[in-house]
Amino acid sequence: MNNMRVLVIGAYGQVGRELMSSAPAGLEVRGLGSAELDISDAGQLEAVIAKVNPAFIVNAAAYTAVDKAETESERAWQVNALGVKSLAQTAARRDIPLLHISTDYVFSGNARQPYKESDETGPNGVYGASKLAGELLLSAHCARHIILRTSWVFGVHGNNFVKTMIRLGQERNQLGVVADQFGGPTAAGAIARAIWVLVEQYRQQGRLAWGTYHFSGAPACSWHEFATEIFAQAGKLGLVERPPVLDAIETREYPTPARRPSWSVLDGEKLDTAFGIAPPDWREELATVLQQLQSMKK
Ligand SMILES: NC(=O)c1ccc[n+]([C@@H]2O[C@H](COP(=O)([O-])OP(=O)(O)OC[C@H]3O[C@@H](n4cnc5c(N)ncnc54)[C@H](OP(=O)(O)O)[C@@H]3O)[C@@H](O)[C@H]2O)c1
Repeated sequence: MNNMRVLVIGAYGQVGRELMSSAPAGLEVRGLGSAELDISDAGQLEAVIAKVNPAFIVNAAAYTAVDKAETESERAWQVNALGVKSLAQTAARRDIPLLHISTDYVFSGNARQPYKESDETGPNGVYGASKLAGELLLSAHCARHIILRTSWVFGVHGNNFVKTMIRLGQERNQLGVVADQFGGPTAAGAIARAIWVLVEQYRQQGRLAWGTYHFSGAPACSWHEFATEIFAQAGKLGLVERPPVLDAIETREYPTPARRPSWSVLDGEKLDTAFGIAPPDWREELATVLQQLQSMKK
């Protein structure tokens, strides 16, 4: 299929922006933000998808405010569950495959081995529960789908842990960072690259091994280890003049409205075996992101 048209929904989010800036040749990519397409509006979804008439849809839109979701649960469900259901129904009616991004927060975090796609889910909070409901509704309504679960997303756009650390590192001499939650930091750019590999394979072959896959950065680490590496690299680049002292703290010392899983490491073997997409080394991805942040400062 030459010049296949792909619709990216949520085009101005962290991952959405990376998707828009890295689309491979041979794909005609249309990106829409929430102002142009609100996925919680079923009528608008139907009309916009009819108009754009894509051959493939990537959904990077979501309600992602994990803590706020505890008090705005209705909105989180409208977007992450019901919005995804409407999107799945519209895509299925038009026979358009749908790639949707989901999260490590669908798991409880009680395991101590990397989570496989088939492992039992058990979200801790409203955000995770709404994302899990979205996955189930998508699977029920649109057979030709990929659900790509990822974790701890960072990049140059939007709000994320790396940018927060850099900001705090410029303001403070000492920082407490949680050392008893483990996961896989994943660059938004790496997620975009993985998605384009899948879409490109569909363009060439007209099919994909549909289903749920995990994609996250390796090796697994704690937020404290992640922060330590951020300041080591940012210090060398001169992004942070005097890197702060990092205190390893426990989750209970940093209370948040939504409980986080203490272990949300995802096993990426299934995606690697099916598509040759290995978990990216987050330390290398971090170097790229910090260099981009530095050049944006100039
Ligand atoms: N960030 C993470 O650490 C993380 C971890 C695991 C999985 N994920 C998943 O990865 C995906 C991308 O996340 P991200 O980090 O790129 O999030 P993000 O930066 O918050 O972007 C999400 C985008 O969705 C848009 N959006 C929100 N409600 C919408 C609606 N009703 N209709 C259409 N668009 C809407 C937002 O637009 P507005 O800003 O205009 O509302 C925003 O541009 C999501 O599925 C998320 O659940 C993220």
